[in-house]
This record gives sequence, structure tokens and C-alpha cells, in this order.
Amino acid sequence: MPPFLLPRQPLRSLDEYFATDVGGLGLKRAVDLGPEATVTEILQSGLRGRGGGGFPTGRKWRGVLDQGGTHRYVVANGAEGEPGTFKDRALMRANPYQLVEGLIIAAFAVGAREAFLCLKASFEPELEAVTRAVTELQDAGVCRDCRITIVRGPDEYLYGEEKAMLEVIEGKPPLPRLLPPYEHGLFATAPQTGWQATENEPGHVGRHESNPTLVNNVETLSNVPHILARGADWFRSMGTEESPGTVVATVVGDVVAPDVGEVELGTPLRAVLDAVGSGVAPDRQVKAVFSGVANPVVPERLLDVPLSYEGLQSVGSGMGAAGFIVYDDTACMVEVARQFSRFLWIESCGQCPPCKLGSGEITERLGRVEAGVADVSDMREIGAWLDKVTDGNRCFLAV
Ligand SMILES: Cc1cc2nc3c(=O)[nH]c(=O)nc-3n(C[C@H](O)[C@H](O)[C@H](O)COP(=O)(O)O)c2cc1C
Ligand code: SF4
Repeated sequence: MPPFLLPRQPLRSLDEYFATDVGGLGLKRAVDLGPEATVTEILQSGLRGRGGGGFPTGRKWRGVLDQGGTHRYVVANGAEGEPGTFKDRALMRANPYQLVEGLIIAAFAVGAREAFLCLKASFEPELEAVTRAVTELQDAGVCRDCRITIVRGPDEYLYGEEKAMLEVIEGKPPLPRLLPPYEHGLFATAPQTGWQATENEPGHVGRHESNPTLVNNVETLSNVPHILARGADWFRSMGTEESPGTVVATVVGDVVAPDVGEVELGTPLRAVLDAVGSGVAPDRQVKAVFSGVANPVVPERLLDVPLSYEGLQSVGSGMGAAGFIVYDDTACMVEVARQFSRFLWIESCGQCPPCKLGSGEITERLGRVEAGVADVSDMREIGAWLDKVTDGNRCFLAV
């Protein structure tokens, strides 16, 4: 299967993008179809969100389209904070045009008045690439009447969480708000649930608005022009029934050549580690693989699992953002557990006390296990905190 999302050579100009068999044709087809049929095409393609949750993209678009109210927004999530993941940055460097076209199509499909493209301020080459793409597409009149604002956000992990991202767009710190974006979107004035109250927009009259907002990952949106230009059946000819298409996987850690590569969904995980990361060193064996810090471990004996949402779920783990951190047989798994736990503790914002207190307590007690000074009460406390660390959680960091 030739890669279609991640070209071997980066595209340097809009002319180069238009010279491909997709550039501009996805939006043209969407306009020909109209918003309703565009959403149906995405629904039929079976595309699932590549930001970590794997939620069906067409269902998400339909949900926003069907919400009441007059103001809707679309957000492209390019925060890419998941440890071990570099695929959104690779995509933005290689082809920022397909992302911006996907964003314009999404805005058209859900009837959004404005779109936001959110990156970290520290992502300098990617900011340069998306700024070039937005400017060229605007100058060529391709953006139609959709205004696109590029947001330079903070480095915190939580910035990538969609409810925190909306706060950042509004100029606030990345603290996840209570309700999901389709219920309480950007600049929403009803209901007031954020950390700080939001003023009515200038000139706004009538009832308060909830402004349903669509948030999609950079890779998800990058798939969109290809699906529209070539059709849902083409997309479904790759991957599996429940996980169609390809995925851009990152393989890092104890491998010969850490890298990013596009693979067909359903490929065995072991083959992905070899194809993308060149496998572990010849005299070493894989001990454990993690898809980011949020999914349970995949041990060596399960590595033949297909890389798909249902495949990784069947072995008790998950796809996450398809960023795989590999540990070889020299790794201490207690140390790995403590490092992951410490990361979540530091990044937890503390709005939900069990998340902050529990991750801190678990981390410190794992440190005692690692140092060889723990006793049975440490193990009991770790188990007890694992049971309640997600109590009342506003976001999935704690999960
Ligand atoms: C703590 C945390 C961090 C997240 N970071 C990212 C991120 O960096 N990029 C991203 O696309 N999604 C991230 N997500 C998931 C988003 O909240 C959201 O589900 C996603 O952007 C939706 O896009 P999709 O449906 O296209 O996958 C994060 C979620 C959590 C709980
Ligand atoms: S679950 Fe944790 S990270 Fe998420 S909002 Fe609550 S305290 Fe913050």
C-alpha cells in the first residue's frame, strides 16, 4: 500500500499540492455534495479519530451539525503532547495543505463560522508550515468565507485535551472545563461552567448561546480531503472493517532507528515496530510496549496483535495516538511505571483532588518499591488509590 498521508518528500507549495490527485478536489466534491451528504460520506468511510479516543468522525460531525444554535466552530488539535508521539508534527511538516483543506471541509460540513488551528508555540517548523498553507489557500480563494486563526498554545500536556484547548483559545490557562465541546463550545455564554465566566460576544443579542464546537485531531482532518476526493469505498479498501484506512505510527524507545511511518491498519504490531522503528537491537528482546502513557502495557507475547482499535482493545490495551514506546529486556518495569505515574502527577491540573493527590501518592509509593524499601502497606495504598484516582474526573488524564 503506497502511503498517501505522509509523502516521502515534503510539499513545499500550494502548486505542488494542487498537482497531486487530491489537492483541492476534496473541497470541490464537498461543495458539490452539500453539508449533509459530506457528513454522510465521512460517516460511511468509517474514519475514526486519531487523537487517542478513536471516536467515529462522521458521528462527531453529525452531532455538531444537529445541535441547535447559530454559532458553530471547528478546532484542529495539533498540540501533540502524548509522550512517544510525533506523527502530527511529521504530517504538518510533510503536507500542511491536506490538513488545512480538511479543516475547511469540516467547517463547511458543520456550518462553522470560524476555524482554529491549535499548535504549541514551541512547534516552530510546524507553525511555519501551517502559516504558509493557510496564507496560500486564503490567497487562492480556497478558504471561501471560512476564517482560520492559528493559535500558539502552551507546552502543558493538558493543552491537547479538547476542553482545555477551548479555554486556551479563549485566552485562559489549559484547565479542562466541565462540559464537552459540542455542548459548551467556544465563547459559549450558556451555561457558565468554565473556570472564569465568559462575556457575551459584542453585538450578541437574544438567548445565550452554547456554540457547539467540533474538535478533531490533525491526522483525522488530514484524511478528510482524500476521503472526499476518492470516496468512502476507496478508504474502506484499506485496513479492517472496524478500523479502515491507514495510521501514522511513531515508534520510539529501545529500537534501532526511532521514526514515524504510515502503515495500513490491521498490520501486526510486531511488523510495525520493525517497519517503522527497525526493531530492537539484534542481541536484545522486546519486554514491553506502551501506546502512550495512558494505555495498559502490551507484553512481548501479545505483539502479533493487529494494530487496530479492536485489536489492541482485545489484548486489554488501546491504540492511543499510535505512538509506541518500546522497552527491551534491560528495562525495569517498576521504574517505567513510576516515570509514567510521575508524568501524570506533574501534568494533572488539580481541579479534581483524587487525580492530583492519587497520582502523587502512587508515584511516591512506586518510588519506594523501586528503591527496595516498600512494604505491603505501600502496595495496598497503590491499589486503593488506583480504585479512586478517577473519582469525579473532569477529563481523561486520570483514567
Ligand atoms: C490529557 C489529554 C491529552 C490529550 N492530548 C491530545 C493531543 O495532544 N492531541 C490530540 O489530538 N488529542 C489529544 N487528546 C484527545 C482530545 O481531548 C480529543 O479527544 C481529540 O482531539 C479529538 O479528536 P479526534 O476525534 O479527531 O481524535 C488528549 C486527551 C487527554 C485526556
Ligand atoms: S482529571 Fe486531573 S487533569 Fe483532568 S481536570 Fe481533573 S485534575 Fe485536571
